[in-house]
Amino acid sequence: MKFLLPVIFSALMLASTSGSAATPITQKSFGQLPDGRAVTLYTLTGPQGLVVEVMDYGATIVALRTPDRAGRAGDVAPGFTKLESYLTSSPYFGCTIGRFGNRIAHGRFTLDGKTYQLATNNSPGDVPCSLHGGNVGFDKVLWRATVDTAAARPTLRFEYTSKDGEEGYPGNLRVRLTYALTADNGLQLDYEATTDAPTPVNLTNHCYFNLKGEGQGEILDHELTLQASRYTPVNAGLIPVGGIQPVAGTPLDFTRPQRIGERIGAANEQLKLAGGYDHNFVLDRKGTGLELAATVYEPSSGRVMEVLTTEPGIQFYSGNFLDGTLAGKAGGKYLYRGAIALETQHFPDSVNQPDFPSTILRPGETYRSSTVYRFSTR
Ligand code: GLA
Repeated sequence: MKFLLPVIFSALMLASTSGSAATPITQKSFGQLPDGRAVTLYTLTGPQGLVVEVMDYGATIVALRTPDRAGRAGDVAPGFTKLESYLTSSPYFGCTIGRFGNRIAHGRFTLDGKTYQLATNNSPGDVPCSLHGGNVGFDKVLWRATVDTAAARPTLRFEYTSKDGEEGYPGNLRVRLTYALTADNGLQLDYEATTDAPTPVNLTNHCYFNLKGEGQGEILDHELTLQASRYTPVNAGLIPVGGIQPVAGTPLDFTRPQRIGERIGAANEQLKLAGGYDHNFVLDRKGTGLELAATVYEPSSGRVMEVLTTEPGIQFYSGNFLDGTLAGKAGGKYLYRGAIALETQHFPDSVNQPDFPSTILRPGETYRSSTVYRFSTR
């Protein structure tokens, strides 16, 4: 004992002087895919209470625990306790979306003179489109995971190669995605991709959030601020009609904090078409780095989530397709408007909208995108 004490003391000194405390990453089995491949669940534990569970199937966030204002940890990310539910019933809970996030009208686009037809796996308002990468998007594949503890901060890296022709897209696309916890209670996602033929790419994560806790009722009392003075209006198929419009004077104005439920039932054509909020907001960006895009505050728990991104847009979706049939991890039902998603992205249907920022990646270029979800309390 007398020899151990100085050792413990110097280890403590090291931890406290190294600035950022260690961020361990542990792993355990999360079951098997029908073809027998093993699925692994990784747990990242941050220095300020943030704990994130991510599995290699879909590079999916399975749980995200962060303290409320009394210091009590709560899981704020809807999801399931069993892999099987992710395989059969997930409305994109926590997963990585690709090759192209959001909708492509009629699942069709023309690139360098050639027209590509994708599967149409979604049809709001009876208008068919390709949604979130198609029938087997990046949310439904097993990614190769590597834990890197030698990096400046411990990192969970996922890699996936999407073959030429997969889901109808051209080019072999190599994707690398890293998850790391930041010193200020954030989860940072960094995406990189390269291709051997021109292809559209628009990667995002589809985590849902309920800052009261997953399965704890509606999100209508959450207060939302979006750093966006403009949005892309949609038609009945939730496809941008073209053009960018100001939010000022409409219920889509979240430039100041607003309760989500305040105006969701307003007599507004866009809200009617989408059955609530399901729109791409054009971020008021200053440069090209990580910038604040959204802030969500939940008054009863005091939890605050900030979303920072390098992307030009963010899809704010108010959980209008949730209907109370899915049960959450702690047994609560995922109610209609029981969670929100804030998907950082390039604009929907960009491949068919020449005025939107381009989503085409060409050989020799590297696609890069970063997003941080940062948690605190008030
Ligand atoms: C995105 C879309 C929504 C819906 C969800 C998944 O958020 O914008 O319309 O399709 O994905 O249910």
